[in-house]
Amino acid sequence: MDRGLIRRAAEDILKARRAVAFTGAGISVESGIPDFRSPGGLWSRFDPDEYAHIEAFRRDPEKVWRMLREMLELTLGAKPNPAHRALAELEELGLLRAVITQNVDGLHQRAGSREVIEFHGTQDWLVCLGCGWRRPSEGITPEEIPPRCPHCDLILKPDVVFFGEPIPWQAQRRALEEARSCDLMLVVGTSAVVFPAGELPILAKRQGAIVIEINKEPTVLTGSISDYLIQGEAGKTLPLIVQEVKRLRHETP
Ligand code: APR
Repeated sequence: MDRGLIRRAAEDILKARRAVAFTGAGISVESGIPDFRSPGGLWSRFDPDEYAHIEAFRRDPEKVWRMLREMLELTLGAKPNPAHRALAELEELGLLRAVITQNVDGLHQRAGSREVIEFHGTQDWLVCLGCGWRRPSEGITPEEIPPRCPHCDLILKPDVVFFGEPIPWQAQRRALEEARSCDLMLVVGTSAVVFPAGELPILAKRQGAIVIEINKEPTVLTGSISDYLIQGEAGKTLPLIVQEVKRLRHETP
C-alpha cells in the first residue's frame, strides 16, 4: 500500500469542499459479493445479454431468475465491509456529500451512509412490470422464486436497472448534479466501462475536480481521468485514508 498516496488522498479530502464518492461492485467484493468483470465474476458465469437485458427478462423471466436467485442469496446475506463503513464515516465527519453507487446491494445504507444515490436501482424491492405493484425482496423464500404479482400473476422483477432500461430519472439528475459540482470524486471499485454511469468521473474531471481512483488494478480511467490510482483492496485502502484524515485533522485543528 502506497503510504504517500494515502497521505495525499487524506490531504486532498481535507482540502475539498464538495467531495463525493462513486462506487462499483469492487467495493462489495470483500463482503462476499463477486464483481462482474474480474476473473470468476458474475458475467463469466452468466452471459449478460441472456440474463441481464430487459428483453431477456421479458422473453424468459424464469431463466433470468436463476441468476437473480444467486444474486439475491449473495446480497441478502451480505454485510457492509470496512470500505462501506469508511465512506459512511467520511460523511459523518462532514467530508463526503454523497455516495453515487452502481451497486444494488444496499450495503452503503446498511453501513450508515445517508446520502446514497442508487444509479442502477435496488435489489431491495421487487416490482411488477404489468401493474406496478411492489414488495420488498426481504423475506422471499426459495419456494416463492420466481415471485409472482398477486394481482396479475406476472413474474416480478427486482427494481434494478437491466441493460436496455433507462436510469431512474431522479437518480440520474442527482448524480449529474453532484458530478458537475464536486471538487473531489473518490472512484472506488469500478471498471467504469458501463454507461451512462461511466460518464460521471469524466464529467467531474472535466469541470476541474480531483479524481482519486481506489481499485485493485488500473482501469480505463487510470492515467487519463484519474489524478492518481491507489492500487489495493478498498476494504484496506479506505480505512487507512480515513485514519490519516482523522490524524491530520487532529494535528491541525
Ligand atoms: N477493492 C477494490 N477494487 C476491486 C476489488 C476490491 N476488493 N475487487 C474488485 N475490484 C475492482 C475490479 O478490479 C474492477 O475494476 O472493481 C471493479 C469491478 O468492475 P466490474 O466488475 O465491471 O463492476 P462495475 O464497475 O460495478 O460494473 C458496472 O456493469 O454489469 C453492470 O450493472 C452492472 O453496475 C454494474 C455495472
